[in-house]
Amino acid sequence: MTSADLERPLREFFQNSRIALALARADGDNELALVNTRFTSLTGYAEEDVVGRNCRLLQESAKGIRADNAVAKDSIHEFLRPDGPATVRTPIVNFRKDGAPFVNLLFMSKLKSASGKVSYIFASQFDVSRTHAEMLNAYDQQLSRTLKGLQPLLEGHDVMVNGTLSTIANSTAVIAQAKLTLAELETNAPY
Ligand SMILES: Cc1cc2nc3c(=O)[nH]c(=O)nc-3n(C[C@H](O)[C@H](O)[C@H](O)COP(=O)(O)O)c2cc1C
Repeated sequence: MTSADLERPLREFFQNSRIALALARADGDNELALVNTRFTSLTGYAEEDVVGRNCRLLQESAKGIRADNAVAKDSIHEFLRPDGPATVRTPIVNFRKDGAPFVNLLFMSKLKSASGKVSYIFASQFDVSRTHAEMLNAYDQQLSRTLKGLQPLLEGHDVMVNGTLSTIANSTAVIAQAKLTLAELETNAPY
């Protein structure tokens, strides 16, 4: 079984999705293997800009400016540890290819084999700084459906989705904080 056998059906599934999705191989530097059109329209990066690269490129603006993402990065690092949690969900400041900042509500989940080996990392991105509570709730429902829809595609490839989506209970507060972060970014720095 090659990784292409798994990535082919996933590509179609990704393209049919209404939310931004990305898939990285768990080995090496977690280079991206697949992104969908929602990801490219959200970030402004074309597939060929990002496939084969680590998604941390979104954390730097075209002018080389980085936001302080210390808390978010700590949670991501904890998630990436072999004994870390199955999923992570955190807001993180990212920049579109054109330099425009946004607060990305990043969700990641480990795809594991029955023996417990992590083979892929699945992720979804959502601009939580330009939204409202109903849109975030609708996104959460889509993401939940996506995770359920992913499982049948992975069966037969000895890969399972690990963990479930913890929905945002206080979506209004998360959105308000993201809008505040974005306003600060927009007033303080030319990107
Ligand atoms: C599949 C996948 C998707 C990711 N998507 C994003 C993203 O959209 N934005 C982001 O800032 N980081 C994203 N990350 C996290 C970074 O790629 C990286 O893991 C993180 O910055 C921690 O590693 P570092 O400290 O070596 O950069 C993603 C990671 C993976 C594996």
